[in-house]
Amino acid sequence: MDKFIIQGGSRLEGAVTVSGAKNAALPAMAAALLTSEPLVLANCPAVRDIATMSQLLGHMGVRVEKDARDPHRITLHAERIARREAPYDLVRTMRASVLTLGPLLARFGQARVSLPGGCAIGARPIDLHLKALEQLGASVKTEHGYVEARADGLRGTRILFDRITVTGTENVMMAAALASGETVLENAAREPEVADLAELLGKMGAKIDGAGTSTVRIAGAGKLHAAEHTVIPDRVEAGTLLVAGGIAGGDLELLSCRPDHLTAVMAKLQDAGITITSTDEKSLRVRAPGRLQSVDVTTEEYPGFATDMQAQYMALMTQAEGAAVITETIFENRFLHASEMVRMGADITIEGRQAIVRGKTPLSGANVIASDLRASASLVLAGLVASGETVVDRVYHLDRGYERIEERLNSVGARIRRVR
Ligand code: EPZ
Repeated sequence: MDKFIIQGGSRLEGAVTVSGAKNAALPAMAAALLTSEPLVLANCPAVRDIATMSQLLGHMGVRVEKDARDPHRITLHAERIARREAPYDLVRTMRASVLTLGPLLARFGQARVSLPGGCAIGARPIDLHLKALEQLGASVKTEHGYVEARADGLRGTRILFDRITVTGTENVMMAAALASGETVLENAAREPEVADLAELLGKMGAKIDGAGTSTVRIAGAGKLHAAEHTVIPDRVEAGTLLVAGGIAGGDLELLSCRPDHLTAVMAKLQDAGITITSTDEKSLRVRAPGRLQSVDVTTEEYPGFATDMQAQYMALMTQAEGAAVITETIFENRFLHASEMVRMGADITIEGRQAIVRGKTPLSGANVIASDLRASASLVLAGLVASGETVVDRVYHLDRGYERIEERLNSVGARIRRVR
């Protein structure tokens, strides 16, 4: 298993290009199942979750081809499907596999998808996906660890989500795109990734209004067709790089990002004393002052502060003066990085869903293990500012969602070695 050895203390200077959004590319790839015609996706990040989704779709019979000249451009052709099933081994390694359920059911009237089970950040059930698909007319049973869904044609209806769910909204939006009649989703997720998927479905021939707001109207189309789409930039990777610039000091430029998707994160970082300016509508410049200030944060659904930025923000707060209260409202168990930061010298107390970070504490390099993708990123950030050497184990978590992050951070002055 790969590890990172990070030599802390370097300033970051220069420019980094932000990758395409993993969490927008994954549903976009699943949408290929909705049509027998090819779908071309550009700006897909070359990360492990995208490879896993390619493998899953390939298992079903989708032809997945990477462009020989551009590794971020993928063609997916679901002309014939051999298996309408997402097996346990793939769902276990990537929960987003569940995004194939809605499209398979809508196009073939049948799907068998392994139940994902819990993961490092919480229980993460999919009951809301299933309830909504039932409302569209599917019969769903769970047996032997699998969800078996059948439908004799889905019919549009009004669906009110009890709780906001990102992949739930995406799954149901894709199913509704092939249903007969109109579906209205209420209390839908407003994440930019949902809006990006709606844009793609629109290019494929669906009629969707309101994506990006909490009420989405989908007029079902009998058939969807070929399309080409460029995936939006990754707002979590961009946020992680902003924190990197803030924690390590220096002068960093982020290219090809969407500052309008980063409003909540930028506001908190600016309150903490980091200078962020926008050089044009696709670029940001981040400069860190000598002194950071503690600022409380509560994670929320978009447009609030993303849970996917909570761990990275915690690393930053270890370097800020005063006490910051970080409240996690989305996942019940997303503080596993805190104990690793404490091993590096941070002063963090967990009380239920709140973490109290008291700073500023010097961090010193240690051997740390990450439990999930964003936790790994937070430990890399802590390593950038720690004295001596930090060894981050189980880097495969990072490789799920950050493309060659060590090379890109090294190109702006970090000192990170990958060892096998
Ligand atoms: C998406 O997960 C993202 N994944 C996650 O990104 C992200 O953390 C999360 O949204 C929240 O923003 C992808 O887009 C592939 P949810 P998702 O359904 O859709 C509960 C990363 O690091 N819930 O919005 O699975 C659930 O347990 C990751 O890139 C139910 O109770 O999250 C959670 O508490 C990790 N029943 C809350 O809702 C359901 O049926 C929000 O989860 C569905 C969800």
